[in-house]
Amino acid sequence: MTGIATLALTADTVEATEAIGRRLGRLVAPGDAVALVGDLGAGKTAFVRGLAAGLDVPPHMVASPTFTMIAEYQGGRLPLFHIDLYRLEPGAPDLPVLEEYVHGAGVTAIEWADRLPPGALDAGLSVRIEYVDPGRRLTFDGQGIRAATLVAALASGT
Ligand SMILES: Nc1ncnc2c1ncn2[C@@H]1O[C@H](COP(=O)(O)OP(=O)(O)OP(=O)(O)O)[C@@H](O)[C@H]1O
Ligand SMILES: [Mg+2]
Repeated sequence: MTGIATLALTADTVEATEAIGRRLGRLVAPGDAVALVGDLGAGKTAFVRGLAAGLDVPPHMVASPTFTMIAEYQGGRLPLFHIDLYRLEPGAPDLPVLEEYVHGAGVTAIEWADRLPPGALDAGLSVRIEYVDPGRRLTFDGQGIRAATLVAALASGT
């Protein structure tokens, strides 16, 4: 185990993207954080819906938190904190608050994580979602032992 791992998966449909998120949701532990990067409509929220399902969060709870910035979903195996930085004021992220979530006892998923200054937040696991024909490509990058372990588990289908 090197502490760095990458994995690319394709998802032809939104259901396939959700299913990959669901697999990750079954693997995550307290303190895991997932940074999501991808253009408008790439499927970041769809992935988080799957993540929530994998944590057994009641499905009706997951909406896009674009207008609230942070949504908390209770009722699953672990609390899920869903953060959307799309409307982040440039240069004004409240990093201490974000850090508290990312290093807290739940699981955190951050849409538009690339709106943060480089290196501002150490989420460990990042997922880049790109448009391909058909569907999407999801590229996982794990930095550090924990995130690399998650990527390896996703790669092996466990
Ligand atoms: N393979 C796919 N994976 C994910 N979404 C897909 C796929 N194919 C089509 N879609 C559609 O793309 C849209 C993805 O929307 P979603 O809100 O998840 O994107 P997003 O990245 O969160 O967007 P935003 O940048 O606005 O937050 C949905 O309408 C979904 O049905
Ligand atoms: Mg979204």
